[in-house]
Amino acid sequence: MNSFGRAQHNESVSNAIITHDLGKTYGDRPIVRNLDLRVPEGCVYGFLGPNGSGKSTTMKMLLSLVRPTSGEVHIMGRRMQRSTRRSILGGIGSLIEAPPAYGHLTGHENMRLVQRLLGLDQGQVQRAVRTVRLQEHLDKRVRDYSLGMKQRLGIALALAREPRILILDEPTNGLDPAGIEEMRRLLRYLAEQGITVMVSSHLLGEIDRTAQVLGILGNGRLLFQGSREQLFSRSTPDVLIDTAEPERATTLAARWSAVREGHSVRVPGVDQAATARLVSHLVQGGVPVHGVRRQEQSLEDVFMDLTGGRGL
Ligand SMILES: Nc1ncnc2c1ncn2[C@@H]1O[C@H](COP(=O)(O)OP(=O)(O)OP(=O)(O)O)[C@@H](O)[C@H]1O
Ligand SMILES: [Mg+2]
Repeated sequence: MNSFGRAQHNESVSNAIITHDLGKTYGDRPIVRNLDLRVPEGCVYGFLGPNGSGKSTTMKMLLSLVRPTSGEVHIMGRRMQRSTRRSILGGIGSLIEAPPAYGHLTGHENMRLVQRLLGLDQGQVQRAVRTVRLQEHLDKRVRDYSLGMKQRLGIALALAREPRILILDEPTNGLDPAGIEEMRRLLRYLAEQGITVMVSSHLLGEIDRTAQVLGILGNGRLLFQGSREQLFSRSTPDVLIDTAEPERATTLAARWSAVREGHSVRVPGVDQAATARLVSHLVQGGVPVHGVRRQEQSLEDVFMDLTGGRGL
């Protein structure tokens, strides 16, 4: 596992969620393996990975909805176990899979149910509804809500108890671009209020700029944990050489696996030092180099690098 969590380098950052060697096996099939999560307090933590990589299973283990086969979960410095579970879970709001509201009731009635169930006061419920901006829709039946409104109601239900930690499983799933943007804004706002927000997505690019820390899961393993900058600094982008003699340049740069692309030559995965050697080699070989460009990488490209080009 590659873990570069800023929390791991800097002991002064406290982690809201820590797992040690967390694992889950169904039958003899390992689903989640050796997970050492570090989720710093008060940040948005993007938990990314393709379908079936184990995101929901991990989040359910954090919430004691699924029993781990191995390892430990620590929340706000306390180990999750039978004696601490109730009080720890009281400080976590969650939205796992489908939004939890009753469709035949209005938003308001759903909020009232949770208020009674948890013994909350009116102010707590009102603040939660205001935070997700659902005030005008509270009298509508939830089954008539748009998906985005249902997700926001789900978050309001989770927020009403004023948790320190929110665990949200794919809250952007199925939302249109405007709904996704609204959700991103909400997540950032919640983290600014000091809430630790752990949020998953199977779409790599969906929340990666919203999250200060990313945890990337592939096949049940944590492939990376750290900031977006750290993630991108680990991968080496392609270099494009512009030249009037692309054919000769491609031949001269064959040992760097260069391929011709129109009037340019693409050289895959070269770091800065290798780029300098490459350009010098071309110039010495008499190739007129007009330009050297680094290709901007997408998160998907970095992902492929992480998995050695196999994908996930
Ligand atoms: N109760 C279960 N029994 C057996 N296998 C399970 C169970 N729950 C999940 N799995 C398997 O574990 C793997 C990981 O599932 P999980 O739902 O955690 O993935 P995910 O990353 O959340 O995927 P998605 O992006 O589709 O939500 C899948 O192959 C799934 O079939
Ligand atoms: Mg899932």
